[in-house]
Amino acid sequence: MYKKDFPFFENSSVTYLDNAATTQKPKEVINKVVDYYTHFCSNTHRSNHGDANKATKEFEATRETLKTFINATYTKEIIFTKGVSECLNMLASTFAKEFKTIIISSLEHHSNITPWHMQGRSLHKGLEVVNVKQNLEFDFEHFEELLKANPNSFVSITHVSNAFGVTHDIKEIARLTHKYDSYLLVDAAQSLAHFKVDVQDLDVDFYAMSSHKTFGPTGVGALYVKKELLEKLPVYQTGGATINDVSFERSIMLDAPYKYEAGTQNIAGVIGFKKALDYLNNITLKKVHEVENELYYYLHNELKKIEDIVLYNNTKNAIGSKSFNIKNINSEDIGILLDKMHIAVRAGHHCAQPIMKKLNIDGTIRVSIAFYNTKEDIDIFIKGLKKAIMMLKD
Ligand SMILES: Cc1ncc(COP(=O)(O)O)c(C=O)c1O
Repeated sequence: MYKKDFPFFENSSVTYLDNAATTQKPKEVINKVVDYYTHFCSNTHRSNHGDANKATKEFEATRETLKTFINATYTKEIIFTKGVSECLNMLASTFAKEFKTIIISSLEHHSNITPWHMQGRSLHKGLEVVNVKQNLEFDFEHFEELLKANPNSFVSITHVSNAFGVTHDIKEIARLTHKYDSYLLVDAAQSLAHFKVDVQDLDVDFYAMSSHKTFGPTGVGALYVKKELLEKLPVYQTGGATINDVSFERSIMLDAPYKYEAGTQNIAGVIGFKKALDYLNNITLKKVHEVENELYYYLHNELKKIEDIVLYNNTKNAIGSKSFNIKNINSEDIGILLDKMHIAVRAGHHCAQPIMKKLNIDGTIRVSIAFYNTKEDIDIFIKGLKKAIMMLKD
């Protein structure tokens, strides 16, 4: 029903079930990017001519839309970046750098592990990792133990695991984080496209978002920063458009959010991102969640019927991604055969090698759904999977 809104599906015969890697874009997003380059391509926040003013207005309209989308309090709490990876690197090299201890979870994407290593931290040397339980759920007891032993820490946790779809109870994580005088950054790469987020209700301090995982253009992200922390957040990079006044003696920065957005931004991408958010607002995230839930359980039940399957995320609160293996078959071999059948999934470690190592596996096959997928897509995938298994077992 929704595929007609996405030009990719008109032009491709692929059964696309790799939405955790990136999502397809509705035609409004593509048209807006083309419109910008075709009709009013100009820089933002600099020149004062008609096209430049239009570009600036549309750029700022995305900030306003995103503010409302996540229920932030002020527009200036939204800082544009290149994506979640840049948000995490920005905080790791500024605000979070001063903390003695960084606490992450076992289910983090490499983007929330390597920035901490770059600062010379490693396990038990400035970096602590919250365990997961047998069913991959967050171990709250262990989390509280870590916080008790390390008050005034910086906690950085993913909202939804990209490898397994497991969803963390961020509200409870925020409550405990603040109880121990610590700060919370949440990686929202895999949550924003799937359910309604309210940063005030969750009480997060920082929320890192990605446009391309949310039906918008690539190379765009945004960091939500709680207003009272904006004063404490050091500038990450400087240059054009971050400065109020410069002499050879000194630079006086602009106020937030501009002092955090150095150089010419991905204007077309930011403007296009608004169209993705408008599109989602139109369908409503409630509907998105409903459609995806139904697909998720259909997929789960179909997978359960397959002989020798090992399913990893049997938790009630999983979203988007479903991971599994077939005993004695390499996940990447299945991925290659599915690709030959024009079925796009991801096989391998999903940029989450530490949890794969903990589980003693090289990787998994990950099927990740979006609301435009259908039961028919899942039927095609299951049929392809059975064929691949047959070929590899012979
Ligand atoms: C959980 C998670 N965090 C971070 C990232 C990196 O996001 P971005 O591509 O916006 O830098 C990804 C991308 O796969 C992800 O799934």
